Amino acid sequence: MSFAIAIDGPAAAGKGTISKAVASHFGFAHLDTGLLYRAVGKKMLTGLEPVEAAKTLTPEDLERDDLRTPEVAQAASKVAAIPEVRAALVDFQRAFARRAGGAVLDGRDIGTVICPDAEAKLYVTASAEVRAKRRFDELSAKGMDVVFETVLQDVKERDARDMNRADAPLKPAQDAVQIDTSDLSIDAAVAAAIQAIETRQG
Ligand code: C5P
Repeated sequence: MSFAIAIDGPAAAGKGTISKAVASHFGFAHLDTGLLYRAVGKKMLTGLEPVEAAKTLTPEDLERDDLRTPEVAQAASKVAAIPEVRAALVDFQRAFARRAGGAVLDGRDIGTVICPDAEAKLYVTASAEVRAKRRFDELSAKGMDVVFETVLQDVKERDARDMNRADAPLKPAQDAVQIDTSDLSIDAAVAAAIQAIETRQG
């Protein structure tokens, strides 16, 4: 039996944390679809043509430990605006969503394009300032030398690119439950997500 949970929202809204916790709670598999675009972005930075990179992506490409940098995030959002790149990644994501035993996918277009028939859809958001602060803390904790204003500008730039692209722009699906995590603890956000999904499970 399959059960797909789609979790979309802008960068650093808490999707990753919520998705992992939800997947573990229900015993479902989890796919961070942002990693697919980051891996393609990384390949572009090393000189590969993005569409070719998307078509030849391997599981090992997703396991690199250098995909979570601001530079790769910006490259990811650039390649993500190319329709042929998105098209090359659709089948893998749809198959993952329908695997037996249930799946949680987090990204930007899961509830709208990849899995419009998902059994449960969440749209996780937070103010740009709160999201930038989280990303800033995360990068600082990794020992990276970052400036808050630059991180905030990066977040806003990526939001604008992700929300305004023609193909699969970031927006809540009509039937998504929205969770604003600006003033929520991680535990409260996870509890809200689980409650919303259980309501859909009936
Ligand atoms: O979620 P994450 O920050 O890792 O995503 C990196 C970039 O990949 C996003 O800014 C977005 O442009 C792109 N992306 C996308 N569709 C998804 C997931 C990520 O366009 N489903």
